[in-house]
Amino acid sequence: MAKYRLAIVVGSNRRESINRKLAEAMARLLPDDFEASYPRIDDLPMYNMDLEGDRPAEVVRFTGEIAAADAIAVVMPEHNRSLPAVLKNAIDWGSKPMDKNVWRGKPTSITGTTPGAIGTAVGQQHLRQILGILGAVVQGGEAYIQFKPDLIGVDGDFTSADTRAFLQAYVDGFVDLVARLVPR
Ligand code: FNR
Repeated sequence: MAKYRLAIVVGSNRRESINRKLAEAMARLLPDDFEASYPRIDDLPMYNMDLEGDRPAEVVRFTGEIAAADAIAVVMPEHNRSLPAVLKNAIDWGSKPMDKNVWRGKPTSITGTTPGAIGTAVGQQHLRQILGILGAVVQGGEAYIQFKPDLIGVDGDFTSADTRAFLQAYVDGFVDLVARLVPR
């Protein structure tokens, strides 16, 4: 049977992004019938309506990757209590032109981590609002993780059984949402 294609959008352009580490550890919690990809967003030019009509190749690539995905998982840091500009920029490109909005109807999960104690909780609310406006079907519940150096071990797995169990339940909920919404 065909696999569900999950586009994991890491909302950071930092080489050593802790959110990429979290995304990769969470991808290990997916069942075998999910295939994960990591569309890059760091090379997208700043959104400019003047570029519409002859969209840059990077933009065509990114929006094509999102359009081809069955589901989206955003894993992002928080910047000044909101989503990082690099992620907002990617979302803006995907939202236009309105009749080709690539986010509409996509089952979407949101997670993220920062070293701060309320790791991305406030930023996630902003993202939830934006994705709601764009018609994505955002998973209920919340998962925000405080990043500590030992969150993920050298083997790429969560070191805490409690954290793994919490995130496994969140991933399972998302898998269930995708299975309900995406025909196979
Ligand atoms: C931050 N950081 C941050 N952390 C947080 O918990 N709440 C916040 O509002 C902010 N604001 C913020 C603004 C800006 C401009 C920067 C550069 C950073 C810290 C941030 O969480 C930290 O740099 C993480 O390492 C970012 O995650 P990635 O990029 O490593 O995935």
